[in-house]
Amino acid sequence: MEISTIPAEEYVAAVLPETHALWGGQRDLATYANDFRAVADSTYGRRRRFTVGVRDGGSIASSCKLYDREFRWGERSLRATGIGAVFTPPALRGRGYASAMLGALLDQERAAGRDFVFLFSDIHPAFYERLGFTTLPSRILTLRAASLDGTPAGAVQLSEADWAGVRRCSDALEAQRPWGFKRTPLIWDWIKRKLTAPGPASTQPVNLAIKRDRTILTYVIGRRVLEADAFVFDDFGFNGDEGRARLPALLRSAAGDLARVSGWLPPPVAREALPRGSVRARKSEITMFACVSPLAVAWRRAFAADPAAGRADPLWEADHV
Ligand SMILES: CC(C)(COP(=O)(O)OP(=O)(O)OC[C@H]1O[C@@H](n2cnc3c(N)ncnc32)[C@H](O)[C@@H]1OP(=O)(O)O)[C@@H](O)C(=O)NCCC(=O)NCCS
Repeated sequence: MEISTIPAEEYVAAVLPETHALWGGQRDLATYANDFRAVADSTYGRRRRFTVGVRDGGSIASSCKLYDREFRWGERSLRATGIGAVFTPPALRGRGYASAMLGALLDQERAAGRDFVFLFSDIHPAFYERLGFTTLPSRILTLRAASLDGTPAGAVQLSEADWAGVRRCSDALEAQRPWGFKRTPLIWDWIKRKLTAPGPASTQPVNLAIKRDRTILTYVIGRRVLEADAFVFDDFGFNGDEGRARLPALLRSAAGDLARVSGWLPPPVAREALPRGSVRARKSEITMFACVSPLAVAWRRAFAADPAAGRADPLWEADHV
């Protein structure tokens, strides 16, 4: 089956009105469409075909978005493709369109010499497993705020001018890790857009850092979710032993008077900076992974054999597509 590029405005007109109820959150349709255009028009969105699909006659039968990522494994670099927003209009479901599209995409990525394809499933993973994807650990970590270091953190709000420092702090943590998705300046633009997008009205963004002079020792980006009595982190980082040691106090101050701190179980090295807490499987946003090169198969084996990796999840929430 032929995969075709869907022009951004056709996607806005034909697909977004249908997916708005699923993924629009509390945004109205116009805001949802403008948020889509902002990514589609960005340098990152233009780097490769962003919205693709298969057609039935002239109309779109199934569609998805493609995200280009580079994955570092020691000195090696793996080329990865993220797939998001897999969607078939209700009237066309059950005819094999999504399966055919995903199968053709896997073939296409393999032929293009890429290494793996990943996505985050909101449906039963069996659908993607049938197509050759495997499920990677996808868990939530919950900590009691009272179990975290309660000494005054001296935390400050992150301002616009701090993002370059946040990036350096994140780089310092990633440099300690054996593998992970690279965060180039282009990727940071995309991550920042996601992390700073307004959330539901019932949540409050809380982005904090602890600095020494002008260096960010540790930062956290997340939101207070009052109904869950929790501060939910999307991303954090630390620089060196001092940053690592102060992360728990930073999380405690982000929680304020809320009882819990939670978030995706972070990847190795980051995970070890946090107390054990309680860990449970996610019911949605399940990480799925399909190797399309021998190098990706080798990483998958190394990950499965690494005991530290078993105690942590492979990806950050910020990697979600
Ligand atoms: C999931 C979806 C893309 C499948 O599209 P489709 O074109 O009907 O898919 P196919 O015809 O190739 O495959 C149909 C299979 O999908 C499976 N499927 C559909 N919804 C599913 C779900 N929630 N959980 C698991 N499997 C599901 C069906 O069981 C069916 O398999 P079967 O025919 O053996 O029973 C479509 O149902 C959809 O757009 N859903 C809403 C958006 C969504 O949730 N997307 C996935 C985000 S991760």
